Amino acid sequence: MSEAAKLDNRNRTPRPAHVPTELVREIDMYALDGIEEGYHEAWKALQTPEMPELVWTPFTGGHWIATRGFMVKEIYEDPSRFSSEVIFLPKEAGEKYLMVPTRMDPPEHTPYRKILDFGLNPAQIRKVEEAVREAAIELIEPIAKRGHCDFAAEYAMIFPVRVFMAMAGLPMSDVPMLAKFAEDMTRPAGNTPEEMAATLDAANQGFFAYVDPIIRARTGGSGTDLITIMVNGKVDGQPLAHDKALGMISLLLLGGLDTVVNFLSFFMIYLARHPEKVAEIRGDELKLRRGVEELFRRFPVVSEARMVAKDMTYRGVELQRGDMILLPTVLHGLDDAENDHPLDVDWERKNVNHATFGGGPHRCVGLHLARLEATVTLQEWIRHIPEFSLAPGAQPVYNSGIIASVQNVPLIWPTA
Ligand code: HEM
Repeated sequence: MSEAAKLDNRNRTPRPAHVPTELVREIDMYALDGIEEGYHEAWKALQTPEMPELVWTPFTGGHWIATRGFMVKEIYEDPSRFSSEVIFLPKEAGEKYLMVPTRMDPPEHTPYRKILDFGLNPAQIRKVEEAVREAAIELIEPIAKRGHCDFAAEYAMIFPVRVFMAMAGLPMSDVPMLAKFAEDMTRPAGNTPEEMAATLDAANQGFFAYVDPIIRARTGGSGTDLITIMVNGKVDGQPLAHDKALGMISLLLLGGLDTVVNFLSFFMIYLARHPEKVAEIRGDELKLRRGVEELFRRFPVVSEARMVAKDMTYRGVELQRGDMILLPTVLHGLDDAENDHPLDVDWERKNVNHATFGGGPHRCVGLHLARLEATVTLQEWIRHIPEFSLAPGAQPVYNSGIIASVQNVPLIWPTA
């Protein structure tokens, strides 16, 4: 079947009575129009002045989309009106998603979050900086001599995964299986909400089956790996229940395996196309370090949702309990109302506004690790390969979903 015919056959959910026709837009979060030109550009193209702040799409089970930065932020920060009871779309799939504590609202969420913070706080992350740098150099050195590589396959998909697996005390040989589970959870295959739910459910159960014996073996242990630290954490003074540990350790693997991987490739494509931006930070350590925040703003990868907690009128729109609202984080950092010339990377931008790590009680707990990995990559890549560009005719392949992905990033550079 041709691509166009497949798209025409997409499953559309009938518009509920409370959704006005003028707010309906056909936006498919898993197959964005114009994605061939870039994931961020495809989302940004929707943010026209004519686009209502809140629109409803019949795709992916039927859901709302917040199209303005202020709204993405406001919804993230207000769990009393916008609950994390379900956060993945389609909702049928989100109900199969059993990760802990992402589906909890405060106050239930708070003690679990403390355990996560304990394992991934800035002081813990500083301890691994040297090992993170060694992992980057070990990968870049042999590539640098060659004059070319597929950045996605040979660096981005390996480096953060190696770092994370070492921190978690897990063997690299398990990565292909875990990466497939992560892919099936964040970009689940299927033509209907039910099919997508089945794909996600199988992947979720796959994670649980994998972590179950590891949790049992490390409970009560004295190791210093992330999993041992977390499974021995306390919830209101009580040991972490096994079912909650399954959800929490699986979530950690999901967070550690699929996000940084794609973020690194997205920003590297941009830098390869903009040598003048690389020249600006080459030799300016302070600008480079500060600039990492600007990269997080410019290249968000996550689009999760919130569930409307009660019937209400929100910014003039009638919402019903159970409605889902997608929060594309890209529409915050790239909103002109939040940042001038948002598609430019401006290393000296003041007030870098973004929701790349979400906001409110669930704001990404892995952000210190993500920041370290991005900083070290930028430092070591530019030190070893000061000038690089995309190979002629390069066609990166973009995919949208809960976490956006990109493959095929061929880079070239002069060698001595
Ligand atoms: C560029 C990299 C990353 C991005 C863009 C990102 C983005 C996000 C976002 C948007 C959320 C909020 C989810 C929500 O509110 O429902 C989140 C939560 C989370 N992230 Fe990340 N993340 C990144 C890296 C990481 C890493 C490296 C880890 C693990 C080591 C991680 C672990 C988590 C966890 C456990 C949560 C859930 C926190 C909670 O529910 O309280 N993330 N992340």
